[in-house]
Amino acid sequence: MGRNIIKAGTKIPKHIAIIMDGNGRWAKKRFMPRGYGHKMGMERMIGLLERAFDLGVSYVTVYALSTENLSRPQEELNGLYDLIRTYFDKYMGKICERGVGLRVIGDTSLLPEDVQTILKNSEEKTAKYQDKCVNVALCYGARAEIVRAVNTAVQQGEKVTEEGFSSLLYTAGQPDPDLLIRTGKEIRLSNFLLWQCAYAEMYFSKKMFPEFSDKNLDEAIVWYSSRTRRFGKTDEQL
Ligand code: FPP
Repeated sequence: MGRNIIKAGTKIPKHIAIIMDGNGRWAKKRFMPRGYGHKMGMERMIGLLERAFDLGVSYVTVYALSTENLSRPQEELNGLYDLIRTYFDKYMGKICERGVGLRVIGDTSLLPEDVQTILKNSEEKTAKYQDKCVNVALCYGARAEIVRAVNTAVQQGEKVTEEGFSSLLYTAGQPDPDLLIRTGKEIRLSNFLLWQCAYAEMYFSKKMFPEFSDKNLDEAIVWYSSRTRRFGKTDEQL
């Protein structure tokens, strides 16, 4: 066990969003197939969720598959769907014990039907847990999410406020992410939570996702805790 760097005064973000990038490169470096990278990524994701909830984080949103990722080779997509088939039920028991809800965000109608059923069952089973939630972004794109919300607003025929608009997004009812973490060396948002991350602190790690350890998560949180969030105000106004 290493030294615990989270101290009593460390500010814990209420909502963390994670772009889990670098599974493929991590696997390639080890002469392993990309699917192995995703499997290790899935295990790391579960580990990080456990750590985040242990620390008192209430919401975690993970980017598992973007709309753009759907054009990847079918074999790779099937591997990801198989991971959902294998891990979801198993992991669900654990998150139910913790009182954590599961919400899938994105256009799930693009997924195989049996996978849709697994996800729907998981959502239903955990719907009673409102205060803590894992959002899994699957077939997700932020622009598509925003356009979908605009169309709903147009249908409703009334002008919207910022709060009203937020309530038309997949993340309705949840606080916006305070901290966004991206692994895998790239410094971009890749169409993830564009509306919700307006004021998120952004942490970019050079680690590939399967090697992003619990300690690395703690380091990101300690960094977050040191940030002064001004939300457009001056230091004196805070
Ligand atoms: C992007 O990195 C990662 C993905 C497209 C998949 C992320 C999936 C997991 C972490 C596993 C959890 C899965 C589910 C379905 C909940 P990349 O593999 O494209 O990396 P690269 O840029 O190195 O090729």
